[in-house]
Amino acid sequence: MRRVVCPGSFDPVTNGHIDIIGRAARQYDEVVAAVLTNVNKRGLFTVEEKTAMLRECTADMGNVVISQFNGLLVDFCRDNGIGSIIRSLRSVSDFDYELQIAQMNYRLAGVETLFMTANPQYSFLSSSLVREIAQYGGDVSSLVTPNVEQRLREKYKTRGEDG
Ligand code: PNS
Repeated sequence: MRRVVCPGSFDPVTNGHIDIIGRAARQYDEVVAAVLTNVNKRGLFTVEEKTAMLRECTADMGNVVISQFNGLLVDFCRDNGIGSIIRSLRSVSDFDYELQIAQMNYRLAGVETLFMTANPQYSFLSSSLVREIAQYGGDVSSLVTPNVEQRLREKYKTRGEDG
């Protein structure tokens, strides 16, 4: 079984993430979208909320499973029998950062990293920009799925603009 992990913070999952997960799902038998849980800084969404949003967004992808991990990604890969990681590249600056991590992950555990170029229509897209736009009431409807848009609206209604 050819299995790969798409790891991330997913705070929240964007259309760019979904594009990558969907394309990976056409190349592999199983894609594990894994949400990082051990962030020092608390994100906007809880891990449970991030996981739920990912489930909703990938409900029509039969070979995608959603998981969570803390600690090192290579340990998650080892524990789950996963030999490769897929990471998206939007720009050269992404590559600069990702190359070092990929080489370290290979050195640590022999886990391969495969880079998938971002769909050009999402090359400017990031979760942090989505959060900022949503925080100030901007339109994110073309950047995230309706369920994520709704959760963003609820989150910022509860927290207020400064949240
Ligand atoms: O969505 P992100 O924030 O770009 O995802 C980054 C992520 C979660 C893939 C990365 O931070 C990660 O793998 N963290 C787990 C700790 C780890 O293994 N770090 C790399 C050490 S070489």
